[in-house]
Amino acid sequence: MAKDTYLKFIVQSTYNKQAGLYRKYSELQKVNLQNLISHAEKWNTKVIPGLLLDAGCGIPDKSFLKRKIFSNLISGYVGIDLSFNMLSASVSNEPGTRVNADLEAIPFKPESFSVVISNSVLHWLNFPEQNLNPLTGCKEIFNVLKQNGAFILSVSGIGTAQRFQKVFYEVSKTVPDSFFENRSLLRRDPIGSMELHELIKVLKLAGFTISHALMEYEPVFFEKTNDYISHVKAYGEDIYLSAFKKQHRDTVWKMVSEQFEYTVGKHNYEHDQFMIYAVALKT
Ligand SMILES: C[S@@+](CC[C@H](N)C(=O)[O-])C[C@H]1O[C@@H](n2cnc3c(N)ncnc32)[C@H](O)[C@@H]1O
Repeated sequence: MAKDTYLKFIVQSTYNKQAGLYRKYSELQKVNLQNLISHAEKWNTKVIPGLLLDAGCGIPDKSFLKRKIFSNLISGYVGIDLSFNMLSASVSNEPGTRVNADLEAIPFKPESFSVVISNSVLHWLNFPEQNLNPLTGCKEIFNVLKQNGAFILSVSGIGTAQRFQKVFYEVSKTVPDSFFENRSLLRRDPIGSMELHELIKVLKLAGFTISHALMEYEPVFFEKTNDYISHVKAYGEDIYLSAFKKQHRDTVWKMVSEQFEYTVGKHNYEHDQFMIYAVALKT
């Protein structure tokens, strides 16, 4: 299987498996989305009339369309996602607004959308150890945007979940060889977080003009460390565990969780989150 197909397969299966859990433990991404729109508003992003594409929409939630930036300007919402289960876990039953598709092969004509939003998605296409990055996805988004359209995005920034990942990597080194299916999938940062300059480079290569971009330190407090672990599980258990054989994954996750709670304590955990927010224009 080609490297990118394999990575995509892992991302797809993790979200298919965890869609139910994601509904319960997606507070982090909801806050990111609100912050993203606040930044776009503060930066006076112009949204031209037409359709909005939500690329990697997850469990679609159109409530953000009520924000001022989108008032009177949007004639419709289309959400695409690689994971069928995420799309079907939506509470909304509105037809025609959800499409099971890969944002690296968007099934719409060029210049179909006035604005594309993508919250907390593109880092899943970033796997520097295997020379994969979100350039193909950004080119697809550029292609389906109208002239003067805006791409409003957030991406996980380098530094995010560093403490959890350090424990994960250290524990992984202690498990027996027989637990491994494919060692090349063991990553120090399975999320694929990006540096701000890396994202800007990719967006520019795709043809965009950067309107604004920044990386923010946004620590998130969890009363119970276990609650934080559930959030990690909801967005990435299989991605973290893809190097291991299926029958050993629960054991490895348990080992990582216990070691993590032992290292940081069972209560009052401050999650180290760095988020990149950007607006890129098709000028
Ligand atoms: C962290 S979730 C974010 C979901 C949503 N944007 C939100 O704010 O809650 C990441 C989503 O990106 C989707 N995704 C990852 N790679 C994708 C791809 N190549 N094409 C489409 N969707 C993708 C996943 O299936 C998942 O639903």
